[in-house]
Amino acid sequence: MVDRRRNVVFGEAVDQYESARPGYPDQLVTDVLGYAPSGPVLEVGAGTGKATAGFAARGVDLTCVEPDARMAATLRAKCPEVRVESGIFEDYVPDRAFALLYCAQAWHWVDRDRRWDLAHAALTPSGAVALFWNNYGVTDPELLTALADVDGRYGVSSSSLHRPKPGRPEPPADELAGDPRFTDLETRLYTHTDRYEADRYLDLVRSVSAYRIMDHDAREALLRDLASLLGDGVDMTFTTELTLARRAD
Ligand SMILES: C[S@@+](CC[C@H](N)C(=O)[O-])C[C@H]1O[C@@H](n2cnc3c(N)ncnc32)[C@H](O)[C@@H]1O
Repeated sequence: MVDRRRNVVFGEAVDQYESARPGYPDQLVTDVLGYAPSGPVLEVGAGTGKATAGFAARGVDLTCVEPDARMAATLRAKCPEVRVESGIFEDYVPDRAFALLYCAQAWHWVDRDRRWDLAHAALTPSGAVALFWNNYGVTDPELLTALADVDGRYGVSSSSLHRPKPGRPEPPADELAGDPRFTDLETRLYTHTDRYEADRYLDLVRSVSAYRIMDHDAREALLRDLASLLGDGVDMTFTTELTLARRAD
């Protein structure tokens, strides 16, 4: 069950989100566009455009659905060539059929009882769906444990940045495998490493919903405790998980 408060907290931290959250590998964009038939493309939950920029750069005819006005303002400024529809995907009424629906880091926010019906209805026959998420974490296991201990002291456990990733509670590949309306299921992983300066790492923490929903003073105290462990920077490992499928009919 999604905590509905969390899906509106990103816009409060739009600058930190934009500067600190990782983007998506160029190879993923190539692979998704290679898998999908050509035609109009729909992005669900585009946020500030971290995935949008890569797809827009390939010249696709792109429509983005984004409910948060602050995220959408950054998206419009960054990608003026794409259409931006304000609102949640559940309320969006497509004005065309899409050859590709993709969603980066946001499919879990869409009503799980309706999302596959909505995706199916938005696609052309053989149209593709591409869902992806970045998993990221501190590479050093000892530092990760120390950061997780700080989270624990402040009562942050669910969806903490420092929890070993247990895997998605509702893996899209499992849901798609049980749905006869979709076929040609594929999953792919992309991994890379990066070094985050300490301030950028703290912005990354500020952009994560589990910390956004905290009381302001408690969050600032937690950030000070995390900062004391970071030194001048942190080595990070990023893995992007991609799930692909297409309409069977
Ligand atoms: C974690 S952010 C991901 C943003 C962007 N796709 C990225 O990869 O950086 C989740 C986004 O989903 C949006 N969102 C939340 N609920 C949604 C819904 N029901 N329909 C469409 N977008 C939604 C939020 O406003 C937010 O911009």
